[in-house]
Amino acid sequence: MSERPDLSVTLAGIRMKNPVTVASGTFGYGKEYAHLVDPRLLGAITVKGIRLLPWSGNPLPRHVEVPGGMVNAIGLQGPGVAGFIQDYLPFLRTTGVPVIVNIWGTTIEEYAEVAARLSDVEGISALELNISCPNVKEGGASFGADPRTAAELVAAVRPRTRLPIIPKLAPNVPRIQLFAKAVAEVGADALSLINTLPAMVIDIETRRPVLANKVGGLSGPAIHPVAVKLVWEASQAVRIPIIAMGGITGPEQAIEFLIAGAKAVAVGTATFIDPGTTLRVIQGIEQYLVRHHMKSVGDLSGSLVV
Ligand SMILES: Cc1cc2nc3c(=O)[nH]c(=O)nc-3n(C[C@H](O)[C@H](O)[C@H](O)COP(=O)(O)O)c2cc1C
Repeated sequence: MSERPDLSVTLAGIRMKNPVTVASGTFGYGKEYAHLVDPRLLGAITVKGIRLLPWSGNPLPRHVEVPGGMVNAIGLQGPGVAGFIQDYLPFLRTTGVPVIVNIWGTTIEEYAEVAARLSDVEGISALELNISCPNVKEGGASFGADPRTAAELVAAVRPRTRLPIIPKLAPNVPRIQLFAKAVAEVGADALSLINTLPAMVIDIETRRPVLANKVGGLSGPAIHPVAVKLVWEASQAVRIPIIAMGGITGPEQAIEFLIAGAKAVAVGTATFIDPGTTLRVIQGIEQYLVRHHMKSVGDLSGSLVV
């Protein structure tokens, strides 16, 4: 029997036992899903976005199923920094798995302040900066729509925390390379992509938007090929590692992301349909490596043949 392939990756200084995490907002803060999937088996746990103070998100209805995925406008509901540290972090610490905290704000100073407050808290491995949420009026996507603003935000956060910072980029930009380079130059340690694609669903009987917020973000299988292209393009532009997400439903899409140049992947919407998706993805990557006689998952990253 040959040895099992090495699934571990080190990304922005974070050692992950396998390259699979969960996409922010689709796994709560870990403990909500712990009865469905053992979080200790994940490579990292990425939690739902938090800002400085508690935030109630958008009015209902705030998600709707569509062919190929879902459109959501949750609006970044969350417990705030203090609530997260008090109510959720203690459980996350017990898992022994690296925790990536997704953060946002309505001003650049708020991002920097959230980063500073989380910087010396035990049990956090990295900060993912959500500069690409289409569902909040202020903040979120407005910082990710221009490479200069994205770089300004990352540059402001950089000196306020010792943790690795991972900007999460928006998919709906003309050239992702400009964003990837702009944030890498000012100290981003890794990139996450993609966030949801701005979208809208109309009830044709009432002729009203289905979501109370009118517009939302499309996620799920429909966005996967879009994400693969963007991950490939970003990986060509920068040397920092990429966590890829968008429409993973099984090992095949995760492997595609790795081949395109990602170092790790995150499972999002699929968890709502099958909470076991992450574990299937981890197993499937391992089986693929065995089948292709690869010793480690690192051999797969960026192995696209062109
Ligand atoms: C219900 C829901 C909530 C989300 N909340 C967040 C969030 O708080 N912060 C963030 O950066 N992304 C958030 N996202 C985006 C996901 O992390 C991910 O980037 C996107 O859904 C694409 O992956 P998927 O197609 O596998 O779901 C959310 C997505 C969904 C569906």
